Amino acid sequence: MSVHKIAVIAGDGIGPEVIEEGVKVLEAVARIAGGFSFEFTHFPWGCEYYLEHGTMMPEDGLEQLQKFDAVYLGAVGYPGVPDHISLRELLLKIRKQFDQYVNVRPVRLLQGAPCPLKDVTRDQIDMVVIRENSEGEYSGAGDWLFRGKPEEVVLQTGVFSRKGTERIIRYAYELARKMGKSLTSISKANALNYSMVFWDQVFEEVGREYPDVETKSYLVDAASMYFVKQPERFQIVVTSNLFGDIITDLGAAIAGGMGLAAGANLNPERIYPSMFEPIHGSAPDIAHKGIANPLAAIWSASQILDFFGHEGWGANVLDVIEQVMVDKKALTPDMGGTATTVDVGTEVVALLSTIHIKHV
Ligand code: NAD
Ligand code: IPM
Ligand code: MN
Repeated sequence: MSVHKIAVIAGDGIGPEVIEEGVKVLEAVARIAGGFSFEFTHFPWGCEYYLEHGTMMPEDGLEQLQKFDAVYLGAVGYPGVPDHISLRELLLKIRKQFDQYVNVRPVRLLQGAPCPLKDVTRDQIDMVVIRENSEGEYSGAGDWLFRGKPEEVVLQTGVFSRKGTERIIRYAYELARKMGKSLTSISKANALNYSMVFWDQVFEEVGREYPDVETKSYLVDAASMYFVKQPERFQIVVTSNLFGDIITDLGAAIAGGMGLAAGANLNPERIYPSMFEPIHGSAPDIAHKGIANPLAAIWSASQILDFFGHEGWGANVLDVIEQVMVDKKALTPDMGGTATTVDVGTEVVALLSTIHIKHV
């Protein structure tokens, strides 16, 4: 029996509400599948912890996490603690320090998912966004000069290293080759005359090693337009940290909403734990009401199953998510229903034990 050790950082706002359902689903899968189990250890880190201790996590927080096979994170950030503190000192710190340089964000219109676009079929929205997750516009480098003076100047420096740019682009080419899909790079070299010129150059250079992969390249503004007008243009997408952040909320919007979008932060070399999370935030506007949609957190739970080599079970969980949306019996208000967060998790677990399991 293999035991997968998961560190759970449920975090703030709706984080704990949705993660509880994800944990419930993973436990149910392990029970039904047999042969493996999960051991969850909960860490109460986040904004409440900050207000009490003055830090988002203890000084040896990363050392504590290093002992786990994966991290399962809800969301961090809450009114009362400045976002640049809560996010940089927890989420972004883990991504960076654990070298989780690949952020895999599927943008796929599942069966039954509400789509705001007219006349779009499921095969038209089926992409995987590979977002650079360790540097770029998120490097944190910069300066704040003459603070409060009339000559005040603020610098926020993007850092695009050869190593960091090449490895993410190579990862995307490999994925495109493996899946037999096209690869689109999203950049902005017309305005960003260093970082994005370099990005485009590396995309072309690495591409010479992958003559079998069809490539496209779009400026991020035009890409945003095509995401809405012709999403079928995109299959595998590779882009920088900030553009990837923005474009995947847009992706979430066309594929069912923030309540349904999942992401995996991978350290492909597996030297450090990888981290799985819904891509939404702590949603203070609906927190503590029990109405947050847990399907994004449950989709990220299915990414955990894939990561541990239980792809069949990952696919089964996705099938069940689709079934829930097709049945429409247990949907939260963001999807037009009246169910609670717990109802949705309970329905997923119930379906897991009853539907025909296809992928094992
Ligand atoms: P958000 O994603 O929390 O919310 C945006 C909108 O989507 C809100 O209307 C919210 O109600 C809705 N929404 C999000 N998730 C939902 C769900 N599961 N079910 C139903 N509706 C859902 O973004 P925001 O409001 O810009 O940010 C709130 C806080 O979260 C900020 O502090 C931000 O920095 C933080 N944040 C954290 C993460 C993370 O930890 N991974 C990600 C994004 C934002
Ligand atoms: C995300 C979030 C984070 C990001 C924020 C909260 C720092 O928006 O995971 O998409 O920008 O990466
Ligand atoms: Mn985001």
